[in-house]
Amino acid sequence: MTYSRIVGTGRYLPERVMTNFDLEKIVDTTDEWIKTRTGVERRHVVEPDQTTSDMCVEAAKKAIEAAGVNVEDIDLVITGTTTPDLIFPNISTIIQHRLGIPACTAFSLEAACTGFIYALTTADKFIKTGDTKCALVMGAECITKLVDWTDRNTCVLFGDGAGAAIVVPSDEPGIISTALGADGQYKELLYYPVGQSTDLAKAGTDEANIIMQGNEVFKVAVKTLGAIAQEALDKAGVTKEELDWLVPHQANIRIIQAMAKRLNMPTEKVILTVQDHGNTSAASVPMALDVGIRDGRIKKGQLVLMEAFGGGFTWGSVLMRL
Ligand code: COA
Repeated sequence: MTYSRIVGTGRYLPERVMTNFDLEKIVDTTDEWIKTRTGVERRHVVEPDQTTSDMCVEAAKKAIEAAGVNVEDIDLVITGTTTPDLIFPNISTIIQHRLGIPACTAFSLEAACTGFIYALTTADKFIKTGDTKCALVMGAECITKLVDWTDRNTCVLFGDGAGAAIVVPSDEPGIISTALGADGQYKELLYYPVGQSTDLAKAGTDEANIIMQGNEVFKVAVKTLGAIAQEALDKAGVTKEELDWLVPHQANIRIIQAMAKRLNMPTEKVILTVQDHGNTSAASVPMALDVGIRDGRIKKGQLVLMEAFGGGFTWGSVLMRL
């Protein structure tokens, strides 16, 4: 049986940092409110001329270097994002070309904040069938470009960034189990109202803003994440006590704490970046994973559970040994 294994990770965060104190100057909010309700203290924000592929290229270079592979080895590129550079060509082809990766399978997928989990699960399946020998998998977002900076309900939550992983076949796991889910009945609770075939004329107007019923999102997120985490554990026959690390989607410290409690995991076993990154949507999990690996906390052979939840709603989890 062939498994897939992450052998290198990387991340990129835009240089510009916006603190809660900066936000106090533009909307009616306080550092105290944002920290208490969300855990966010600062976030990185792209420049107007910076694109999602710009960030992906930098994150991918670091992952490629960490994995010790050559760009010529890569034969699959998948990017989870809801803020691609263009509608077409898809962002993975732009990244493939910019990195000098030879022509290969390259596509992007939209699952909002669950984008990386969906992309990694897809790469896992490509590798298990024998079709892929080396995958570059990314989660990236210029989500602040969708944010209305006059809406305190949403603008305090988000940040930009990109995370990347190199995934290769392995005789041993690697990825042990994956679980994905989605239910469009929740669309109204969290969505962006402008698309290429929907109200395109609203683009650039006050109506083009993330629409969210925060309280309701919170409740469904906690319930659904608990179930999807358990599903990955059950599929693998692994108990929560065996877990070394939880690498959660970094939307809100209170959602993360609720998840950690359900899994009986103390804070020391949870990788937290929400304070520094905010909610970077699809980039959140791969960047947190990279932080945990690069600072030496997540060690080779340890059991890691990643989970995410996003607009759609979509949700998913991946259980793996590093
Ligand atoms: N600063 C100060 N006050 C704010 C504020 C801000 N940035 N944003 C909202 N408020 C106010 C509201 O207007 C409301 O005031 P009111 O009682 O006078 O009407 C009050 O704070 C409470 O709002 P509420 O929405 O009930 O707060 P909350 O405790 O639910 O926290 C969120 C709001 C958004 C932080 C929280 O619901 C959340 O994180 N939800 C999940 C969102 C999420 O994860 N989305 C992405 C999923 S991938």
